[in-house]
Amino acid sequence: AVHTLIFAVESSCDETAAALIDGAGNLLADVVASQIDFHARFGGVVPEIASRKHIEAICGVASECMDAARKHITPREASMFSWKSLDAISVTYAPGLLGALVVGVAWAKGVAWALEIPVIGVNHLEGHLYANKIGNDWLKPPLVASLVSGGNTLLVHVQAWGSYHTLGSTIDDAVGEAFDKVAKALGLGYPGGPHISRLAKQGNPRAIAFPRAMLHSGDYRFSLSGLKTAVITYINNAKQRHEELPVADIAASFQQAVIDVQVEKSRTALRETGAKVFCLGGGVAANPQLRRAYEEMCAEEGVRLALPPLRSCGDNAGMIALVAYDRYKQGKFFNIGFDPQARCNL
Ligand code: KG4
Repeated sequence: AVHTLIFAVESSCDETAAALIDGAGNLLADVVASQIDFHARFGGVVPEIASRKHIEAICGVASECMDAARKHITPREASMFSWKSLDAISVTYAPGLLGALVVGVAWAKGVAWALEIPVIGVNHLEGHLYANKIGNDWLKPPLVASLVSGGNTLLVHVQAWGSYHTLGSTIDDAVGEAFDKVAKALGLGYPGGPHISRLAKQGNPRAIAFPRAMLHSGDYRFSLSGLKTAVITYINNAKQRHEELPVADIAASFQQAVIDVQVEKSRTALRETGAKVFCLGGGVAANPQLRRAYEEMCAEEGVRLALPPLRSCGDNAGMIALVAYDRYKQGKFFNIGFDPQARCNL
């Protein structure tokens, strides 16, 4: 089922990624190169470093993706398979770090221009939503989706693929950002999410009553900065009193405060929209305790839950290829003069 082949690249933050999808919607290759080690010592992603690392990595990652795809096709197909076999190039064009997006977009434009094939710009947030299709063939709108990453926190009503209504988003920090900042205050490494969730397993989520901001706001807005400040204040007070920090309890209680608000607002969104399907996307969707809380809530509500595979929660190009596959079928191409955008709604 090779025939149609769409190549995808993603460079919106600190992962350089490439994927290839065929005309039946099968991902033939899905390669991710993370730069995280270059950013970790600065405690966060440094935009200038991200751009430079994308430039260094992108051609190698793209070649690796082509090589990986060769293993999924018949020897006869492989003998004829080359860059010239591609039918379209897709690329994340927004939202993200502008200098990082520019690298993928310039690369995609160059390849599309040289091969004289169409280019398809993809919204990164739509990619995180589509990541739920991997391993969940049954997934279909109408549904409600929560997209939670280092840069975004939003709740979306998906009426149809490509038709989105954002119910609400964060008014300050993103969920992943809060995990990263709390981890930093606890002296843990970057990115903080995996450290917090690992520690939280040994802690008591009810030990410390951290605030559940906006839980009863009656809308779908989120606020994380007050929670972050409450955790940092708690840590500072304990240090001033020379008390030993209950690190596991702090991690578990912080995480529970986040989960409670996320899950309750999602429950309300499901009830109000009448949607019977829920899905989750973005880096924070890898959090095991959050996944479990959603499993419980969806079971209570009689709602079917889709979760992206763990490896597809963070940034990747497979999810970009899945969006591009739909756009290709609809003939929705970009004019090659398009620009990347740092900010963009779903
Ligand atoms: O989607 P992603 O890779 O990049 C963005 O587009 O932002 O998300 C990265 C974010 C980071 O803030 C990281 O701390 C968080 O996802 N994260 C987690 C977990 N794994 C990654 N947060 C909570 N629990 C996790 N297990």
